[in-house]
Amino acid sequence: MAITLNNGFNMPVIGLGVWRMEGKSIKHLLTSAIKIGYRHFDCAAHYKNEAEVGEALKEAFETGLVKREDIFITTKIWNSDHGHVLEACKDSLKKLQLEYLDLYLVHFPIASNHTGVGTTRSAINEEGMLDIDTTVSLETTWHAMEELVSLGLVRSIGISNYNILLTRDCLAYSKVKPAVNQIETHPYFQRESLVKFCQKHDICVTAHTPLGGGVANTDLFGSVSCLDDPVLKGLAEKHKKTVAQVVLQWGIQRNIVVIPKSSKIERLQENFQVFDFELTKEDMELIKSLDRKYRTNQPAKSWAIDIYE
Ligand SMILES: NC(=O)c1ccc[n+]([C@@H]2O[C@H](COP(=O)([O-])OP(=O)(O)OC[C@H]3O[C@@H](n4cnc5c(N)ncnc54)[C@H](OP(=O)(O)O)[C@@H]3O)[C@@H](O)[C@H]2O)c1
Repeated sequence: MAITLNNGFNMPVIGLGVWRMEGKSIKHLLTSAIKIGYRHFDCAAHYKNEAEVGEALKEAFETGLVKREDIFITTKIWNSDHGHVLEACKDSLKKLQLEYLDLYLVHFPIASNHTGVGTTRSAINEEGMLDIDTTVSLETTWHAMEELVSLGLVRSIGISNYNILLTRDCLAYSKVKPAVNQIETHPYFQRESLVKFCQKHDICVTAHTPLGGGVANTDLFGSVSCLDDPVLKGLAEKHKKTVAQVVLQWGIQRNIVVIPKSSKIERLQENFQVFDFELTKEDMELIKSLDRKYRTNQPAKSWAIDIYE
């Protein structure tokens, strides 16, 4: 199942996110995921595992497990490379061993001090805060992203972690409209206005952290995941599915692409088995009532500055 983007390319509605996937386990996980049916992988320069993903993909193509044209690969430019878009994209392509990307995203709407192409460091200034680069505007970065489409290096370009105001601005200055806005959204952080705004303007919303980050975000950010929610547990029982499956299906029924991450084969299977049930209008309404406007992915904890304020 896929969503057609505003430029005519199709994007599978379930992807596998590879953040926090250990390099040495990637080949096994990606190969298993492809066998399960995943055709969409969400990467980023900042995840520091593009080379391992590239190795796994190369093997999958060479062994005939899957064809390049049948999979959708996303990666993202890091904050420190906003002024070096072409070099950063080429660096990711080289690591991923690909001729083109299906989707290239601006990872965050903030440029930080350049630390060398592809190094993706978040330099910290003398006050202990993220060293923000005030010389590169998001518009400049976007026009460089557009250039990548002209060069045939990427098929689609998009944004990530942009709110309504920044998305609106991007629509105003873009010649190539963003195909996607990848944002955190799950039952505890529904962002109905942003989702509606993007969809009204034909920007596909991808949910990062679609499970609320599970235990991983509890460990990293001290956040609370929706996977333990009693109402969601009730819905899971009703449909004889797991809470994760209910949450992913809820995302898909909002016309949102979901990219859950798991390093466990049985969960890769579980997260992909959502096409055999549907939530009712009442179920959807019930989940709507669970919104806590609660962000689980909190980069402010490492940057000492809240870019969402
Ligand atoms: N654009 C951005 O700024 C941004 C930010 C964050 C994430 N992302 C992307 O979104 C992807 C997903 O986000 P995420 O990994 O932070 O959060 P997530 O997918 O919401 O949750 C992942 C966590 O949930 C666990 N999990 C997975 N399937 C489960 C299941 N069926 N039942 C119970 N627990 C389950 C995982 O543990 P195990 O691995 O142990 O199964 C992990 O702890 C990332 O990999 C990345 O590609 C993008």
